[in-house]
Amino acid sequence: MIISIDGPAGSGKSTVAGKLAHKLGFVHFNSGKLYRAITAHLIYNDFDLTNISTTTINFPVQLEAKFKNGVQHVFVNGKDYTQHLYENIISVNAPLVSKNPYFRSVIDVCQRDFAKQYNLVVDGRDIGSFVFPNADIKFYLDCAIEERARRRFKELGGTVNMQQLIKEIEERDHIDKTKKVAPLVVPKGAHVVDSTNLTINEVVEELYKIVQKTKRI
Ligand code: DC
Repeated sequence: MIISIDGPAGSGKSTVAGKLAHKLGFVHFNSGKLYRAITAHLIYNDFDLTNISTTTINFPVQLEAKFKNGVQHVFVNGKDYTQHLYENIISVNAPLVSKNPYFRSVIDVCQRDFAKQYNLVVDGRDIGSFVFPNADIKFYLDCAIEERARRRFKELGGTVNMQQLIKEIEERDHIDKTKKVAPLVVPKGAHVVDSTNLTINEVVEELYKIVQKTKRI
């Protein structure tokens, strides 16, 4: 069974997906980690990232996701990049790498292969719309931009300018929603949940109720 959770950056989808998977006894698969791992691979091998969104890639990239002690590890050409995934340089470059059609296709294959083995809650930006259009249950987690900026502000310990944060999130939304391949959209048939005024646990409960109700139908 596949449950997809899509939504914009900072909507809380990854935390919610992890908790929902735990509650259901499913595996949480974070698709963003695959984009981050390929980005790390390119950066750590001194690949020139100028025009990476459109560059034709003429070298093979083997991507593999594996769970070790409940943690999702990602290997590119046999090297484990898990510890580098959330470095700032990776976060800055992943949106550009994610526009490259070759990398997207490698990632799609990896996700579809993985889904053959487990019951999954998968979070990302194109899961219910593109990677798993036949997912059993689809969610789209939305959240007001000011609240997403406020959450990020808290995460960063209040050391950044709020207006600057809002601007950065707007830019990320723009890239995600306008990219040519698999842009961020509300997937057909998705349950839209707005998390602006809800705690993480309230969102998880709401999704869990929908899953239980749908499973009974
Ligand atoms: O969710 P995240 O920040 O870890 O995602 C990292 C990057 O990968 C981000 O720039 C968006 C991109 N991404 C994507 O294009 N499609 C997905 N399904 C997941 C992530």
